[in-house]
Amino acid sequence: MEKERIIKIYSRYSYIYDLIFSHMITPRIKSGLKKMGIKEGDLIIEAGVGTGLSLPLYPNFCRVVGIDITRKMLDKAKIKKNRFNLHYVDLIEMDAEHLTFCDDIFDHAVLPFVLSVVSNPEKMVSEIKRVTKKNGKIIVINHFSSNNPFLLKMERFFSPVFIRLGWETGFTTEFLSNHCHLCIKEVSRDHRFDSWLIVYATNKK
Ligand SMILES: C[S@@+](CC[C@H](N)C(=O)[O-])C[C@H]1O[C@@H](n2cnc3c(N)ncnc32)[C@H](O)[C@@H]1O
Repeated sequence: MEKERIIKIYSRYSYIYDLIFSHMITPRIKSGLKKMGIKEGDLIIEAGVGTGLSLPLYPNFCRVVGIDITRKMLDKAKIKKNRFNLHYVDLIEMDAEHLTFCDDIFDHAVLPFVLSVVSNPEKMVSEIKRVTKKNGKIIVINHFSSNNPFLLKMERFFSPVFIRLGWETGFTTEFLSNHCHLCIKEVSRDHRFDSWLIVYATNKK
């Protein structure tokens, strides 16, 4: 998807995003962060932070830098930062495919529900790897294609609809390891048939 289109779609979503998606997104981010083992003073980048649903879920002894290209989504995240007094959070309007940070400054990275939305996922992951320290954890939470032939067929059939709604489908964990060169350590899911996976990877530079 082109960036202008992404910004247009998510600017519209910004008003109703939490209402529609929070019940699906929040528990999965909670599970992902719980397993990360965040330590005191860790500096974490979250790409595509959106309306900041994840922000109150981080422990207040770390520091989180949330970036997003859609200003209206970030505005909602800023409201949460103030409302919940999230002093450990910084929010910046930035393209995840062109990060303006120096190399190796973040301890870990979190990519929740953004892989399917960015124009160039390989470029985003490569930028995230660049700014994250060697052996830092990179967590990707996303919808991945089902192994079930019927569900896969349905997914392919509805793919043009999903694109209109603002996300692509058809991702696999092999895409992350083979194309994005992520060293995957573990993959978990909330329940057996869940196709929203939490992928834990290590930043092997
Ligand atoms: C589906 S939302 C997920 C938001 C949030 N991570 C969550 O879990 O609720 C995808 C977000 O990615 C952002 N996004 C898309 N492309 C981006 C890019 N190149 N750089 C930064 N953010 C991007 C969109 O603006 C949108 O806010």
